[in-house]
Amino acid sequence: MLRHHVGGAFRTPRASAVFRATRLLVVLAGGVASSVSAQVPDEFTNLQFFPEDISRDELIGHMRQFSFSLGVSCQYCHFGGDGGFSFEGVEFDSDERPEKVRARAMLEMTREINSNLLSALPHRRSPNVMVECRTCHRGLPRPRMIDDLLRDRIGNEDVAAAITWYKELREEELSGWSYDFGEWVINDLATAYGDEGEPAIGAALLRMNSENFPESLSIWSLLGDLELAAGNRETAIEAYRQGLRVSPDHPGLNRKLEALGVEPRAER
Ligand code: HEC
Ligand code: HEC
Repeated sequence: MLRHHVGGAFRTPRASAVFRATRLLVVLAGGVASSVSAQVPDEFTNLQFFPEDISRDELIGHMRQFSFSLGVSCQYCHFGGDGGFSFEGVEFDSDERPEKVRARAMLEMTREINSNLLSALPHRRSPNVMVECRTCHRGLPRPRMIDDLLRDRIGNEDVAAAITWYKELREEELSGWSYDFGEWVINDLATAYGDEGEPAIGAALLRMNSENFPESLSIWSLLGDLELAAGNRETAIEAYRQGLRVSPDHPGLNRKLEALGVEPRAER
């Protein structure tokens, strides 16, 4: 259950991931649920989405789902308190925090999707699939995709900084459900950079990816192509030979090496 190990220097994203997990455990762990409800008021005075007569158990059930789906504590949306584990001073009825106001709009949006848009889906299959908070959020308050985040980092800093960030995040979150750390997200992003006239950025991303998937023929082949496009003949040859190590008789790779006038010998 605890997927983040505590250790090493406290840096982002590691620190935030550990913090997130620890606080969530406190909120979601069965044994603590009773102490959660003990600190939550009996009367609800500012429900605009849920029915006024909703039972306390049902409301808290929804709230725990929100926390789980977004990977946040109750105080992410609820104003007051010291931001710690206790609900001391938290004003659950307050709309002070924009996160709560956004969450209410999300409730409306999700209802609209399920009740009006999906129900009008032509030839809908059975059983119906419903959209929930977690369908999109996957444990993140802002459900961004890993390739978008990498693009941001590359744009704001550079590809080396983005790679360092990705490696740390991958180590922390590999067994989680927030990001796709599979090889193809990076392969596709690298290809896109190649198409945009930035083959060196694409090649750097693929080299990183090859550390995680050294047996992937696709990575070595794409890496060779991008190195070549970036004008690095020698590293391109090395990459193609790594591909031959994985698949010694691969006709495409052998052709590429022959075209470069090189003996198609695998890298050992
Ligand atoms: C993602 C945002 C979000 C998170 C996280 C969240 N809540 Fe809420 N909470 C809301 C929204 C939005 C409402 C108002 C719903 C409505 O208008 O019907 C609400 C309403 C409430 C209310 C009723 C307040 C009143 O008097 O009107 C209580 C109590 C409450 N939440 C408790 C909790 C607890 C306990 C947790 C943690 C387990 C939690 N919430 C986590 C968004 C959140
Ligand atoms: C169809 C996908 C989808 C569903 C379903 C969904 N969300 Fe969101 N949510 C998003 C996206 C996308 C954003 C980011 C919007 C932006 O800021 O551009 C977002 C943003 C939010 C934010 C603001 C986070 C911040 O810090 O800015 C909250 C809070 C939130 N959602 C709560 C919920 C809750 C609670 C549910 C379930 C009732 C829910 N969402 C269902 C896609 C979804």
